Amino acid sequence: MRRTVIVSNRVASITEGSSKGGAGGLAVAILETLRESKGLWFGWSGNVREAPLDTPKHSAPTQANPFETVTVDLTPAEHSGYYNGYANRILWPVLHYRSDLMEYHSEHFRTYQRVNANFVSQLVPLLKEDDLIWLHDYHLMMAPRDLRQAGVKNRIGFFLHTPFPSADVFATLPNHRELVSSLCHCDLIGFQSPTDLRSFEDYITHEAGGQVHANEEFEAFGRQFRAQVFPISIDPDGFASAAEESERSDVANRLRESLDGRSLMVGVDRLDYSKGLPERFLSFEHLLDRYPENRQRVTFLQIAPYSRIDVPEYKLIRSRLEGLSGRINGRFAEVDWTPLRYINRGLARRTLAGVLRHSRVALVTPLRDGMNLVAKEYVAAQDPEDPGVLVLSRFAGAAHELKEALIVNPLDYENTGEAVQRALSMSLEERKERWSALMDTIRQQDITAWRRSFIAALEAT
Ligand code: ADP
Ligand code: G6P
Repeated sequence: MRRTVIVSNRVASITEGSSKGGAGGLAVAILETLRESKGLWFGWSGNVREAPLDTPKHSAPTQANPFETVTVDLTPAEHSGYYNGYANRILWPVLHYRSDLMEYHSEHFRTYQRVNANFVSQLVPLLKEDDLIWLHDYHLMMAPRDLRQAGVKNRIGFFLHTPFPSADVFATLPNHRELVSSLCHCDLIGFQSPTDLRSFEDYITHEAGGQVHANEEFEAFGRQFRAQVFPISIDPDGFASAAEESERSDVANRLRESLDGRSLMVGVDRLDYSKGLPERFLSFEHLLDRYPENRQRVTFLQIAPYSRIDVPEYKLIRSRLEGLSGRINGRFAEVDWTPLRYINRGLARRTLAGVLRHSRVALVTPLRDGMNLVAKEYVAAQDPEDPGVLVLSRFAGAAHELKEALIVNPLDYENTGEAVQRALSMSLEERKERWSALMDTIRQQDITAWRRSFIAALEAT
């Protein structure tokens, strides 16, 4: 079997991935993937040093992490220009349809290019002739061109974990042509949803002057490649067992006792403006306003660990949420009931699974999201005899697959509140029907299917 070399900005280990929440969907999915298929994972160590080590740091496989990792450090200037500046203040907002939040400086693009080139120059000596190279996410869009320029002939795949926005929106990025022409050096480009692929096709034909042939074959910038949809997923049965076991844990007992028979609504997200958290808080406020019978009877637990704390837009959203949560609790709390429990820490994965299982309703209402793994985790965590209801944004990639969820437009917070009311009063029969259809879908397209189909398509190019 050929070795798969995974390259991403963030590299996580099982200890980190399982005990600290908030590392995001990419880390969770790659950990699951490598647990099964071994291979090598190359990326940033998470360390920022004035004088980074001359050579990358190798860690041998262990029982917990049955794969090799090779990591590099960033200097403070690289961290600020490449990670915070270009990846998170320029690319991330545009990819999530928020060009209005883009804070463009050409210097950040130069740093981004330099860091992509450094990653590649440290990676190339490690490569073997028949390795499959699998690049992940928006931090590394210049890497395909650099790899080819370094003479690498291996098959190269790229998977974008975020949405690919409509061509008009992507073209608001001053460097859109450089980025896409670099991506075209791949053999295969993977997207989360048919909407993303359609936007990319549109970009290739209308902005890049390229062509899209049958069988998802593309021609642009003098290169030929394929682009396809590979919806990312989870290990549903593994997550379900973790949820069942966690039901008997100390935290689950404390949670159950503290609720005193009230229904639990849950939200779990990195604290990111793409997740629609203020709108979600407003929908909860609407629920309590419009349906006062829920007061004292329902508790909403929002878990939102801090993310990208140096980026100003993340600080702003954080203070907005602090204001809203204070207002909602100030308006509705009673001496013995806090309507909204707002926690800014990650939970251990197993604990999280138990919390999801115990929740009657999950609110997964991003304004835009590549996939959203929490939606799938919530379904997998449910008790088949008494499952809860998923309220899901139509703008999450997951909405393409999870059609039996209650689908909402998160910008219409009143309507989201109505959907929650419907979820809270849904009959057991309807909950079971919806849940079993959702769980079938997740089982059919799980994380193993995602990895296998991407690798098979890359090998076939
Ligand atoms: P994103 O990748 O944008 O963060 P996803 O929903 O796709 O969004 O993935 C988030 C992942 O991180 C999920 O696997 C989720 O369980 C995990 N996660 C998010 N917040 C927490 C938290 N507070 N505690 C534990 N895990 C978390
Ligand atoms: C999203 C991105 C990932 C990123 C994660 C966490 O899932 O698609 O690439 O790793 O968020 O963000 P961070 O900036 O902490 O890596």
